[in-house]
Amino acid sequence: MAGGAGMKPLAAHFATAPRLLDLRGEFPALPEGWAYLDAAATAQKPRPVIEAITNAYARDYATVHRGVYARSAHMTEAYEAAREAAARFLNGRVDETIFVRGATEAINLVANSWGDANIGAGDRILLTQLEHHANIVPWRMLADRTGAEIDVAPLTPDGRIDEAALIALITPATKLVAIAHVSNVLGSVADVARIADAAHAAGAKLLVDGCQAAPRLKVDVQALGADFYCFSAHKLYGPTGIGVLWVKKPILDAMPPWQGGGAMIDEVRFERVTYADAPQRFEAGTPHIAGAVGLHAAIRWVEDIGIEAIDAHERALTAIARAELARLNNLRLFGPEETAGILSFAVGDIHPHDVATILDEGGVAIRAGHHCAQPLMRWLGVPATARASFSAHSSEADVALLVKGIERTMRIFG
Ligand SMILES: Cc1ncc(COP(=O)(O)O)c(C=O)c1O
Repeated sequence: MAGGAGMKPLAAHFATAPRLLDLRGEFPALPEGWAYLDAAATAQKPRPVIEAITNAYARDYATVHRGVYARSAHMTEAYEAAREAAARFLNGRVDETIFVRGATEAINLVANSWGDANIGAGDRILLTQLEHHANIVPWRMLADRTGAEIDVAPLTPDGRIDEAALIALITPATKLVAIAHVSNVLGSVADVARIADAAHAAGAKLLVDGCQAAPRLKVDVQALGADFYCFSAHKLYGPTGIGVLWVKKPILDAMPPWQGGGAMIDEVRFERVTYADAPQRFEAGTPHIAGAVGLHAAIRWVEDIGIEAIDAHERALTAIARAELARLNNLRLFGPEETAGILSFAVGDIHPHDVATILDEGGVAIRAGHHCAQPLMRWLGVPATARASFSAHSSEADVALLVKGIERTMRIFG
């Protein structure tokens, strides 16, 4: 693989160089010479996922659950097979696995259903300083509705959740701890199992926002000890508009429905409605049928490669990028040394939008902004960061283009 002009070869970064993946050819939307480093926002799609979605519409399409004709029965099987794959992917049960629009909807569902039923005035919800707005705003709205209080766990100086400090903030009034498994800005990875033990010891539940973890880490909801776990398919090489919420069975069974409509009922009378069991109780209306099929293809694709191989690949590239960027004067790297595929930085006092614009001219797509994590930006003391995020298709050549683009940015801004 090509390195940049001044870049060290891969082996020089490691005692034993990890084997990098070479998957770029599977992504038709990646033209030669374009470094797509915004996978944390949304992942590019490999060919099998695109084909599965195309076939779902162009060959197999029909509604699910209601039709008695064969085509609809087959589509229902495909939709439910996707649920089985999603459940297996998380090591959860099928009847614990709900399709939602994405992680944002998943957390809103929990806040509105479980939250309204279980959180009241004086109860406490414990978040962390690095959460995405999707894991802050639904809880703020719940707290405003109910009179609950929000606590915020601090970070270590290098930008990881300070687990000891978080645990010290758990009180008997804490009903929920809600954390990101992997930070979408810093890439730092939480010790979820440790936090789960502490939350459960105090009688609190644990929600894990797995948006950035599901595409990168082996997720086992049993081993993690989560009560709620969610992710969005589009960050896992799948389509937009679908995601997964997993909820531990006894908790899910006691949760009231959130959205009402078709497909989530048992019997409807004007005076009284009875509801279907979970997961159907939480899937009102015609679902994202082709989305589920696409998600299934994405899970299969990731499992064929092996999530551990993707994680090792991204960590290796992140380590190379960190080492290369650390050599540049006036460049500030945010976050811990060891991260899962995501790297935030500042180039002197050049605005991250200017950095991203100049990088774009050189064929490098990164994200610049607050990354839907304004409280974290305040903690970092910046209005925005530049963020490069890696993917299964990323390469050393992408890193080289990134470094070259940043050097050019520095020259332009003197
Ligand atoms: C950590 C994290 N949580 C939640 C979300 C929200 O995901 P979505 O917009 O797909 O609902 C994102 C997306 O950027 C994320 O990175």
